[in-house]
Amino acid sequence: MGVPKKKILVVDSDEIILSSLSGFLSSEGFKTVQAGNIAQARQALGNEDFALVVMDLNLPDGDGFGLLDEITGNYPHTVVIVITNYGTIESAVSAIKRGAYEYLTKPIADDELRVTVERAARQHELIIENESLRSQLEHQYSLENILSQNYKMAKIFDLVEAVADSRTTVLMTGPSGTGKTVLARTIHQRSSRRDKRFVEVSCGALPETLLESELFGYAKGAFTGADGDKQGKFVAANGGTIFLDEIGNASPAFQVKLLHVLQDRQFEPLGSNRTMTVDVRVILATNQDLKEKVRQGEFREDLYYRINVVNIELPPLRERVGDVELLAKHFMRKSCSLHNRQKLGITEDAISLLERYQWPGNVRELENVIERAVVLSRGSYIDVDSLPDSIKYQQNVKEQGFKSMSLKKALAEPEKQIIRQALDSNGWNRQKTAKSLDINRTTLFKKMKQYGLYEEAEKLGLL
Ligand SMILES: Nc1ncnc2c1ncn2[C@@H]1O[C@H](COP(=O)(O)OP(=O)(O)O)[C@@H](O)[C@H]1O
Ligand SMILES: [Mg+2]
Repeated sequence: MGVPKKKILVVDSDEIILSSLSGFLSSEGFKTVQAGNIAQARQALGNEDFALVVMDLNLPDGDGFGLLDEITGNYPHTVVIVITNYGTIESAVSAIKRGAYEYLTKPIADDELRVTVERAARQHELIIENESLRSQLEHQYSLENILSQNYKMAKIFDLVEAVADSRTTVLMTGPSGTGKTVLARTIHQRSSRRDKRFVEVSCGALPETLLESELFGYAKGAFTGADGDKQGKFVAANGGTIFLDEIGNASPAFQVKLLHVLQDRQFEPLGSNRTMTVDVRVILATNQDLKEKVRQGEFREDLYYRINVVNIELPPLRERVGDVELLAKHFMRKSCSLHNRQKLGITEDAISLLERYQWPGNVRELENVIERAVVLSRGSYIDVDSLPDSIKYQQNVKEQGFKSMSLKKALAEPEKQIIRQALDSNGWNRQKTAKSLDINRTTLFKKMKQYGLYEEAEKLGLL
């Protein structure tokens, strides 16, 4: 299959001119559609996308300028060439002022038409290309105030939307500060349970028995000091959502209880033989590798399968470098309004330091760094001086590697980052990515393999 032909709409009330123009343009390799008046032109424009319109301004059923305005207003990608009669140069000039690309004067010589149409077609390509560049830059995904321009994150947002309004158990995994809690809240907010409670429990923070009584409650006299019944968090979350954070730290005994609740939404409060039944949506989170914990015998396999129904795996911030600037600016706006400060800018040097940093604390760390910078900054910009030393004086990976590494090795990390970013902004489409990087698909494939990007993408179902 070759490149699809560019389409040109030819508008002229003179049938002979109309068919000769169309015939010539077809022989030049374009697909043409003919219109004898404004009404026909409008209909054609509504039916398909035209790269170019070649139109006479003198039309029988209305003002040619009106049609010109309609095209430039409604079809901004379409390039218009107007045709005027000999001696009506003023109208040609005003057509150009109103957005026509070029004019031709009747009688039209073939060469003149050919050259003009070729130039207009190139202009059309430029418009399309600029537009796609712009949309790549502006491509931004968001769920409420959770932002990203990363393709994997976009997939996660889709998944969140898809599962939100069901009772499916969701397991959030990923390093600390990557957004697990905030996404769990979003799931609750987007479900029909939003009017009931979202109850958060950290399973790592409490000793085993305390955790059990927190979650399941207890009956009066269950232990010394239990001088009344206490309702647990599962009951508090009835009809709503319970968020069990740090699930990787749950003790073996607690794991058994949890399995039981997840299986039939039933449990007994401590010291009680009354079985409680609840309707609760369960979301769990961990920054540990649960599969590995199962292998080590530290996490029950049956529980693992029970909770791993839908797994949302959040990537660390250093793997979505493109998000650093976006999030930094988002947190700047947030912080400025919180601290009643005038809007601040940020210097490019500061941004590039932020982008180079490894972010062990992920988005949470970035949020803190920005808040601190907002408070410290004196002028109207956040610059390098407002950043903490760990970021200001971080070892430059490139400089550090210069002496001790081969050039090939030193270039590997930046190359990997560039490829990852290109894949992200092209939706992990390999053909488009290869094209945008100006390499062929085989080279891209080899490099993806070399840097483990292929396996990563496969694992995430991006290919
Ligand atoms: N994509 C994002 N856009 C905006 N804010 C985010 C994003 N991801 C995380 N945050 C913010 O970063 C902080 C840490 O997120 P959190 O959900 O608590 O991480 P985790 O639970 O994984 O440790 C929170 O203040 C959260 O609002
Ligand atoms: Mg959290």
